[in-house]
Amino acid sequence: MMGKKKRMMKITILCENTVGKLIGFGEHGFSAFIETEGGNFLFDTGSGHSVVANSLTLNKDLRSLKKIFLSHGHYDHSGGLPEVLKIKGQVDVHVHPHVFLDRIAVQKENGEEKKRYVGIPYKRGYLETLGANFILNHTFFEIEKGVYLTGEVPRKTSFEKPDQRLFAEMDGKMSQDIFLDDQSLILDTKKGLVLILGCAHSGMINILHHVIHKTGKDKFHAILGGTHLDFLTQEQLEESIKALKSMKIEKIGVSHCTGMRAAFRLHQEFGDRFFYGSVGNVLEIER
Ligand SMILES: [Fe+2]
Ligand SMILES: [Fe+2]
Repeated sequence: MMGKKKRMMKITILCENTVGKLIGFGEHGFSAFIETEGGNFLFDTGSGHSVVANSLTLNKDLRSLKKIFLSHGHYDHSGGLPEVLKIKGQVDVHVHPHVFLDRIAVQKENGEEKKRYVGIPYKRGYLETLGANFILNHTFFEIEKGVYLTGEVPRKTSFEKPDQRLFAEMDGKMSQDIFLDDQSLILDTKKGLVLILGCAHSGMINILHHVIHKTGKDKFHAILGGTHLDFLTQEQLEESIKALKSMKIEKIGVSHCTGMRAAFRLHQEFGDRFFYGSVGNVLEIER
């Protein structure tokens, strides 16, 4: 007699800075394509150069998407949205309202201060004409059974500090970006929670604590996505690694703003439980 068919879930890195397989394009950005029995989802859209090309190459049908989630408003996570909408048409897009803020990054180049626009590159109205049906959430939110968005993440750790280079326009003035819109996706599986981060601007450890608090579960099967560890001081990085090691994390597959310095440190600490989430990388889990 045939055994009962297992309910599987598959997560494919669609956009990322590096290409791990022989196929696909790399770009500064992040996007993950999630296949479940309850439907397919897209978490972030990259910056717009690779999402469609990689979806075709990796055989992920953007027309099949049930919902889209944006982790925050930075261009490297939201810039691919029009390209996806042109293929998909009408679809729910879950975001925090601050996703639409104007944002800049101030960086020193050859001793000179340079400002760069890094916010969402398209207006809400334009995205709506392409089919986006924005659904706004501030707080932890169950989208459907076993699929959650974190909502705003309380800042609790002392060592995770805001990135000093990043600003957002609020109440008519540019000030330090506090990223209330930074949210992550949680998938509850038989093996534990799978957490997908966008850029982890709230602080990776703050996010993990928030997820544990909200779900009442502390076993992580996998943590994927951008960790922002690349932009922390060495001390902050070591504090973050210490905290990660004290938690129940089976696999850690980082991408994007993790950077090589932090990725190598994580590999040293987590050994075979570590992997780098490049374009085309797949995680398959029983649900
Ligand atoms: Fe990013
Ligand atoms: Fe970001």
